[in-house]
Amino acid sequence: MPSVNLHRVSRHFAEVKAVDNIDLAVEHGEFVTLLGPSGCGKTTTLRMVAGLERNDTGSIVIGDRLVSDAAAGLFVPPDQRNLGMVFQSYAIWPHMTVFDNVAYPLSVRRVPKGEIAERVTKALTLVEMERYADRPAPALSGGQQQRVAIARALIFEPEVLLLDEPLSNLDARLRAQMGEEFRALQRRLKITTIYVTHDQEEAMALSDRVVVMQRGLVLQSGAPEAVYRRPASAEVAAFFGTPNLIEATVRGSRPNGEGHVLSIEAALGTGECRAAGTFRAGDKVLVMVRPEDVALGQADTKAGDGQFAWPGRVIDGVFRGPRRTLTVETARERFRVECPASRAMPVGESVTLLIDADNAWALPVSPPS
Ligand SMILES: Nc1ncnc2c1ncn2[C@@H]1O[C@H](COP(=O)(O)OP(=O)(O)O)[C@@H](O)[C@H]1O
Ligand SMILES: [Mg+2]
Repeated sequence: MPSVNLHRVSRHFAEVKAVDNIDLAVEHGEFVTLLGPSGCGKTTTLRMVAGLERNDTGSIVIGDRLVSDAAAGLFVPPDQRNLGMVFQSYAIWPHMTVFDNVAYPLSVRRVPKGEIAERVTKALTLVEMERYADRPAPALSGGQQQRVAIARALIFEPEVLLLDEPLSNLDARLRAQMGEEFRALQRRLKITTIYVTHDQEEAMALSDRVVVMQRGLVLQSGAPEAVYRRPASAEVAAFFGTPNLIEATVRGSRPNGEGHVLSIEAALGTGECRAAGTFRAGDKVLVMVRPEDVALGQADTKAGDGQFAWPGRVIDGVFRGPRRTLTVETARERFRVECPASRAMPVGESVTLLIDADNAWALPVSPPS
């Protein structure tokens, strides 16, 4: 399976920089997800890879083949790029059976009947829909229709699969189930996949790598755990859930593994956190702490080595089934804390917020925009 490489690719629509000079490298057999809010340029990026949209600048290489180069005026049309595509609307034809829907791209190319039957059966088997071949397409559930769309995308045995929010029309349960099926199928076929979603949990659950986009730019690209736990900026951090961000000043820094350990001073006290780069004493940082990484001790618990231990009071608790979300007020800021739902935590209780250095991550203070 080939890799996909975008080099300095842009696409503007009048004043709108839909995609703004991005680089993107997808490895052989990798499952990469473009993640970002509506309008950040995900679909436009995917459509440029597909050849449904021309890039204004830069070049796109699939495998060892240059398929688009704006400067050289080179452009390979979509049907010669050997890609499979599935979009948000399944676009299956209601007046046809499942078999005919999947066979369609082959029949319009006048492939012999015997070969069509063989290939359609193979594609339907891949998505476990071979039993439904004779059903009229509208008699299927949303999830089944989406599987038919995937079978059709696989009919030419594409080297790259492009998926644009393929689960967003399904209900939450089916979305989770189909997501797992995608992942299993992609693993089995080892097909290079670019997946688009605005759903962070879906992105993290499915992908080898997540590319976080905003305003036509790539903000960060990395393994799901890296972008979640070690974001490059407050903007990326805030894209995943509701992190606590604490203003602090750096007092010292020492190298540790691939990064650094900072000793910092915040309004509520001192402690240690981790950082990707170097900071100097006196630098301002924002320290990110995920709500599920705040431990709650009894009032007057003392800090362990490098730990933050800040006194607070529970002012709100929301039961969410698997967990409980608490709001804890301190002398300076409010913290969001997630704890197991089984843990009773009455409103009004005095607690100590305990944060380990491993769970505190320094971010640069972003310049005013
Ligand atoms: N054909 C088009 N004509 C004009 N503007 C467009 C067109 N396609 C996309 N855009 C604009 O480009 C930006 C990025 O759109 P899109 O790639 O669809 O974002 P996403 O898929 O992340 O929601 C948006 O501001 C959108 O309105
Ligand atoms: Mg889109």
